[in-house]
Amino acid sequence: MRNLLLSIESSCDDSSLALTDIDTKELVFHKKISQELEHSEYGGVVPELAARLHAEALPRILEEIKPYTPALRAVAVTTSPGLAVTLVEGVVMAKAVSIALDIPLIEVNHLVGHIYSLFIEKEAVLPLTVLLVSGGHTQLMEVRDFDDIKTVAKTMDDSFGESFDKVAKMMGLGYPGGPLIEQLAKEGDRTKFTYTIPLSQSPLIAFSYSGLKNAVRLSLEKASKEEYKDVAASFEHIATMHLVQKLKKYFKKHPPKNFAIVGGASANLYLRRKIEELLEPYKAGLYLSPLAFCSDNAAMIGRVGVEMYKRGLFSDMDTVVSSPKSDL
Ligand code: KG4
Ligand code: ZN
Repeated sequence: MRNLLLSIESSCDDSSLALTDIDTKELVFHKKISQELEHSEYGGVVPELAARLHAEALPRILEEIKPYTPALRAVAVTTSPGLAVTLVEGVVMAKAVSIALDIPLIEVNHLVGHIYSLFIEKEAVLPLTVLLVSGGHTQLMEVRDFDDIKTVAKTMDDSFGESFDKVAKMMGLGYPGGPLIEQLAKEGDRTKFTYTIPLSQSPLIAFSYSGLKNAVRLSLEKASKEEYKDVAASFEHIATMHLVQKLKKYFKKHPPKNFAIVGGASANLYLRRKIEELLEPYKAGLYLSPLAFCSDNAAMIGRVGVEMYKRGLFSDMDTVVSSPKSDL
């Protein structure tokens, strides 16, 4: 019989459960119910609505894995960072499963999950320089292991994905904004609107998207509907060039050997192309998660969970709580 680890993810607007084989790391089951449609009319995630939808969706997926119950050896759950009211839905389910089956409970950091999304279908490659671009985070990290991660740069305000969501909201496109803006930008002129690259004069290796977002807001006040595609294209270009410029600066002192982009926004093809171009002179390997595992999912949480299981990193039932703000 297999030895399986159940993993649960509910940090934002995706309810997801996965089963990972502890011995082979093979993903045996994975299901995700996204709430994008429900949040779309609000132009962003409404936490209380998200929590209610998790309370419906998570048990529905749990029903599906019932046949695997005898093989379950541990349960891993995202406890941070994320929305307080949605994290708790997963945590309560994980505790209930842990108590009912008398199996250990493992707390997984969502950001480490994104990094390990790279290793769901491939062998782990470490050490690795990782750019995480999601709705909640934009950060550059040096990763040696799941418990040895050094953050070298962060956003000072909005994240890369969030800025796409906000620009899409300003244009009345819906949520999530990333794929919608990317689609619209394909038909647009990237040079039509000349936004300034954030922090381009600053020696800091850090990111910032609030200024660019405001510049886009101002140009949208004057732009015609026909020009929205050009706004989207120019915005996507500058948002990406900001990352490229700061990475270039960082690489001067820390030339990359192996580089990865993870997180929901790593699905962006313009970003992928520009980073590939940036890496070319370094002959550095570029690692990307399969598209199915770029955005939030429980498979990535399970992949970290297996590493933690092997090192016996279990948590006490009483001390496991969701902590929305605990970053890396
Ligand atoms: O990792 P993720 O699923 O959730 C968080 O942990 O935040 O990332 C979701 C974010 C959203 O902001 C979404 O707009 C963005 O990733 N995103 C994209 C693209 N696809 C998703 N941003 C830019 N281009 C995309 N193609
Ligand atoms: Zn995420």
